Amino acid sequence: MYTEKVLDHFSHPRNMGEMQDANGVGMVGNAKCGDIMQMFLKISDEGVIEDVSFKTFGCGAAIATSSMATELIKGKKVEEALKLSNSAVVEALEGLPPQKIHCSVLAEEAVKAAVEDYYKRRGEPVPEGTERKHAGH
Ligand code: FES
Repeated sequence: MYTEKVLDHFSHPRNMGEMQDANGVGMVGNAKCGDIMQMFLKISDEGVIEDVSFKTFGCGAAIATSSMATELIKGKKVEEALKLSNSAVVEALEGLPPQKIHCSVLAEEAVKAAVEDYYKRRGEPVPEGTERKHAGH
């Protein structure tokens, strides 16, 4: 029921753990299951995501989707990272069982929350695209 890619990212999560020198940190909860995800970003002055890591109290699907999400946004510009949707992450993992789709929302929303935190810390206007559209599900 899980694809090879999901199993691979679940068994060998990329970029897992806390980041001490992150300059943007986001924490979101999943209204459906109550699980929590934290995303750490290191963003350069040019707006490039130089490093990213995550920490989760979520399930295996949350671990796999966050792992994949960190790989997809590493080295990208903030604007591109904000376009990352949970469905793009699920697609990159070659699918998730329907009842686990809500787990993939955590990664997308945590990235957005971390970007928002980065701009707030700098006292700069938060760019468009950080709204969490899934909130309240
Ligand atoms: Fe909560 Fe998957 S069941 S994140």
